[in-house]
Amino acid sequence: MNRRTRLIFLGLSLILLVIIGRSVQGNFSFLLNDFWFTSGFLLLILLSLIDQPHFSKDSNVFINAVTAAISLLLVEQSDRTWMFWVFLGSTFYLAISSYILMWLRNQPLMNERKWVQFFSRINRQIGKPETLFSAFFLWGAIKQFGLNSNEFNCLLLYWVIFMILNLSSIASILNSLFEKKAIEKLDNSLGIIFGVQSKNTFLVKLFPDRKASINSFDFVEFTYSVDNAKTLRKGLVLDSYLLNQEQWIKVLTTPEISKIFEDQPAYEKHSDDIVYKIKEIPDTKYLDSFIGIITTKSNIGRIRFIYNSKTEIQEGQLLEVKVGEKQINVYYQIVEGETKIETLENKNETGLIIGEAIQLGTWNHEKTRFEKYGWVPSINSPVYVSADIKDVEITSKEFKIGKIPGTNFPVIINKELALTHHTAVLGVTGTGKSVFSRNLIREYLEDENIKVICIDFTGEYKGKFADLSPAKIVSAENDQKLYRMFDWVASELEKFGNQQDKVKLKKIDEFIRSTLKDSLTEFLKEPKARLSVFELPDVSNTASILEYTRQLFKALFDLAKTEKCFGHKVCFVLEEAHTVIPEWNFVGIADKSSQSLLNSIAQIALQGRKYDVGLLVIAQRTANVSKTVLTQCNTIIAFQEFDKTSSEFLSNYFGQGIANTLPNLKFRQAIAAGKALKSNVPMIFEVPEIIELKEQEDYNDIPI
Ligand SMILES: Nc1ncnc2c1ncn2[C@@H]1O[C@H](COP(=O)(O)OP(=O)(O)O)[C@@H](O)[C@H]1O
Ligand SMILES: [Mg+2]
Repeated sequence: MNRRTRLIFLGLSLILLVIIGRSVQGNFSFLLNDFWFTSGFLLLILLSLIDQPHFSKDSNVFINAVTAAISLLLVEQSDRTWMFWVFLGSTFYLAISSYILMWLRNQPLMNERKWVQFFSRINRQIGKPETLFSAFFLWGAIKQFGLNSNEFNCLLLYWVIFMILNLSSIASILNSLFEKKAIEKLDNSLGIIFGVQSKNTFLVKLFPDRKASINSFDFVEFTYSVDNAKTLRKGLVLDSYLLNQEQWIKVLTTPEISKIFEDQPAYEKHSDDIVYKIKEIPDTKYLDSFIGIITTKSNIGRIRFIYNSKTEIQEGQLLEVKVGEKQINVYYQIVEGETKIETLENKNETGLIIGEAIQLGTWNHEKTRFEKYGWVPSINSPVYVSADIKDVEITSKEFKIGKIPGTNFPVIINKELALTHHTAVLGVTGTGKSVFSRNLIREYLEDENIKVICIDFTGEYKGKFADLSPAKIVSAENDQKLYRMFDWVASELEKFGNQQDKVKLKKIDEFIRSTLKDSLTEFLKEPKARLSVFELPDVSNTASILEYTRQLFKALFDLAKTEKCFGHKVCFVLEEAHTVIPEWNFVGIADKSSQSLLNSIAQIALQGRKYDVGLLVIAQRTANVSKTVLTQCNTIIAFQEFDKTSSEFLSNYFGQGIANTLPNLKFRQAIAAGKALKSNVPMIFEVPEIIELKEQEDYNDIPI
């Protein structure tokens, strides 16, 4: 019953009472003189309708008892029968005991000691206006009119209507005709606030006899007695659990949740700290993006959150948390999820999922990159799946290698830095290394000044680059000649020193150098020749191939030093790099050619960037690839990896948290970090779908 209805009923009841009083007595003297009216019915109506419409607290009972005692003391000496003393005794008992209870109690009744509960409940029954003043009314009226008089019967009938038919319920029924919602609101009460975990999360003990059902992710509202301005807070039920045989819920309140209900009309005033269910929820996407709240042991670089959402998330997903007073949007990327059991009191347990995410930072849209943020979100801050951003513009020097999974946040690489400061692409077979690298090479080639030489012993590149018509650096005729010479040199060098044909060796060496130098010069100078693929020849032994490769590197490096490659930048691509630059302990002792090839490539790795010669190293495992070269790669793109050496090597590079995700990366997903990347934090990204040419066997060499 709301206040308006109560006032209407107060007026009606009083008018009706005065009319009945007037008609049974013939005048209005009862208004001032008669005990049944002044101390009985009038107080009954006033107190039960105005002061204590729902129930009487200890303080109400105290006031009722004092009021009753004072009106009893006005009774004349002659009327003070034994009934009078019973009443007076009762009122004194009520006044004193309620006063004591008021001081003793400091918790909700349910939690009080048993005897306190007992006396409080008894007092409420005896001390409520309906009981106390009905008794006075009946006593006064019988005393005045006699039990069988018409006057008494009239008044009794009215009292019966007022009491037995229960005016408050009639009022509710009538009220529902005017205002349907107000009644629903009353039924919406769920429970009472019992504790606060940080500023925005409330623990609520549910009323056992609540009418409204409650589930996780329902919305609720309440006014919190500690708030200065009594604002109506809106919240989200995160969790419901059983503790000490009682049901509890956890409620999160945030400005974002309040915003959902901004346009809703404000409801009538609630009782403080009582939580009500909101039934009419405006259309909202809130639950699609809300995924949980920050929990303990989060730090600046890495947050931990309790996952609690209808939305599914996965590794690599980008999250958003508002941090600090200014509520700055800071982004995090999921790297871990684990289940946990939290023990509540009395062996009650609850299962949790804890997620972990590393900080990428704040997003700077102008600079199209993430920037580290220097602080940690507060506990219980809500965590959201990040929303998409406006499209970004990148310069011609940059290339978007992919995006953060599930978002449109671009991962951008600076092509020049990637080339000159060497890049490594790592990952087990079939994860997309070669496709990614070839796509990157095509991007390099957008710049007219760049020449690419692929050392590809897998035979894959020629076909995939058929459309670019790869050039042959050394003509087919000279190629054959050179191989024969390498074979001859190899066998000659196996002889004892004094048996070697030193003169011929020198001549051949001279020829090899000048042929390679001339061929490379031509390749670099010819504008049409942009890309060359150096393949495994049909015949020849490994030592010769490696020696050939070495001489090629050497010749190029000499040209780089002396001629600056005629104004070009050159990228050497080492596909399946362990065949070209193996780690030293994987090299056979006799394998001198392999070692000297490694040395000349290492020289490029160490000094190449001075002369604009860069490497693109593609390898499966870090273990068997030369660390001398690998550690010179300033940018690393790592696809899925399982082995321990790789994960150790890469966790030094990326940091432990994100390197742990390496075994779980999906197809086409990789971790990127390093000098060439615009954002200077390692992150998981997704390579877009790349459609390559079908293998084409017959392609045209450009003869040069
Ligand atoms: N970005 C991509 N888009 C579409 N398909 C891809 C992509 N990356 C890899 N693939 C597919 O996966 C196969 C293996 O990729 P590849 O790059 O050869 O693996 P790796 O070099 O790591 O062994 C390719 O033949 C191609 O069909
Ligand atoms: Mg490959």
